[in-house]
Amino acid sequence: MQLTKTGSAVWQRRSRDFARRFRKVDRSFHNFHSPTLTDDAIMQVLISESEIHAGIARLGKRIHAAAQGQPLLVVGIMTGSVVFLADLIRRLEMPVRVGLVQASSYRGATTTGAELHLNAAWLPDVAGQDVLLLDDIFDTGRTLSAVVDLVKQGNPRCLQTAVLLRKTGRQQVTYEPDHSCFEIPDHFVVGYGLDYNDEYRHLPYIATLEPHDLPSRTVEGKRYDFRN
Ligand code: IMP
Ligand code: MG
Repeated sequence: MQLTKTGSAVWQRRSRDFARRFRKVDRSFHNFHSPTLTDDAIMQVLISESEIHAGIARLGKRIHAAAQGQPLLVVGIMTGSVVFLADLIRRLEMPVRVGLVQASSYRGATTTGAELHLNAAWLPDVAGQDVLLLDDIFDTGRTLSAVVDLVKQGNPRCLQTAVLLRKTGRQQVTYEPDHSCFEIPDHFVVGYGLDYNDEYRHLPYIATLEPHDLPSRTVEGKRYDFRN
């Protein structure tokens, strides 16, 4: 009896704390204002939650039609693709398995190019499989094209790629994704899996973050965190 009372009091306190925290997060959603950015840093919503869901539903139909009911191995490039992957696979009706590849780019203070690191520890055997490779955004294209080369080494039966966003005029490779949901202008964007310094991935929409709003101390000379 005593235990139940104590447990219940603790639970009530925890749920009150949670409710308080949730309201805080909720307020920052609606103001598009981040406590970690400078005071005048304002995010602009570029693609709303409902537009994203409509885009993913359209993509799901295209992929479903192309696959003709064959099982599909969906491989997400971590970490930016996880929200996209979670929503897209729930639109697919064929048998689906999921794999992951981690891609991270690092940029030092004095270097101009970013070095790409791939980790295929969570990539299942792709030999003979129909593979759909997903990334959050196709920017220079270096990441997706490198992961395509990596997956091809495993001899899949066929390999298709899909990205949520494609930035206009930024590409440095000849490779093009088979599917992209939205074409966007050259802005730094966050939300729906995309991050700046590992934040904002949980926003349900895509918002722009202007370069002058990004605190320079987190960019210069540090791990280029927002590129993974
Ligand atoms: P790419 O290799 O230049 O095509 O860049 C691909 C990776 O860079 C993506 O998987 C993202 O993680 C990251 N990236 C590129 N542009 C943005 C952006 O505007 N916001 C957040 N991440 C980005
Ligand atoms: Mg990424």
